Amino acid sequence: MDLEKKAYPKVLVRPVVVITTISERGIPNAAPFSFNSPISFDPPLYGFSCNPAHDTWRNIQRNGEFVVNVVGKGLGELLHVLETDYPYEESELEHAGLTEEKAKRVKPPRIKEALAWIECKREHHVELGDHIWITGRVVEVAVKDEFWKDAGVIDVEKAKLLCHMGGEFFAVDMKEAKYKRAQ
Ligand SMILES: Cc1cc2nc3c(=O)[nH]c(=O)nc-3n(C[C@H](O)[C@H](O)[C@H](O)COP(=O)(O)O)c2cc1C
Repeated sequence: MDLEKKAYPKVLVRPVVVITTISERGIPNAAPFSFNSPISFDPPLYGFSCNPAHDTWRNIQRNGEFVVNVVGKGLGELLHVLETDYPYEESELEHAGLTEEKAKRVKPPRIKEALAWIECKREHHVELGDHIWITGRVVEVAVKDEFWKDAGVIDVEKAKLLCHMGGEFFAVDMKEAKYKRAQ
């Protein structure tokens, strides 16, 4: 079936992260993002695509710091709260009843209920189409012990990562598979 071109993200299932930032006065902001990806090992760089009208971008322009909170399906029920456009400096975390936890290397908080956290400092940004692609240098990364397997991967069956398909549709409850790789 042919789709209209702007529907292309719907054929790519993407992990949902919740990005936390803070205002100049230190008020936290949280918003879900699915246009996101690791982009380099060395230096470790992470990128996501943000609508320029979002408070997330406003905060990152001011202080350059953000936390990528990797979330599971438990947060699915809260997405409609986290994505609500509250007035600037009204914390979505408070509205959603989520818990702030101090990050190690940046000022924006981690979300305690997340499974893993990637703390970043802005490295670059570029306007691409109707979004801003923001690249952050990873300064700290952590995962809750119970979601990390000895094999050095996330326990996806336990973590039940939240992935976006499009609109109100999400993919959850993944199964692990192992495939042979080139040496
Ligand atoms: C599952 C999901 C994925 C989203 N992905 C993005 C995204 O990749 N880029 C973006 O700009 N907005 C995305 N949004 C919309 C923002 O989260 C939403 O507009 C939010 O209110 C922005 O918050 P802020 O103004 O506090 O930064 C997404 C929303 C949901 C529910």
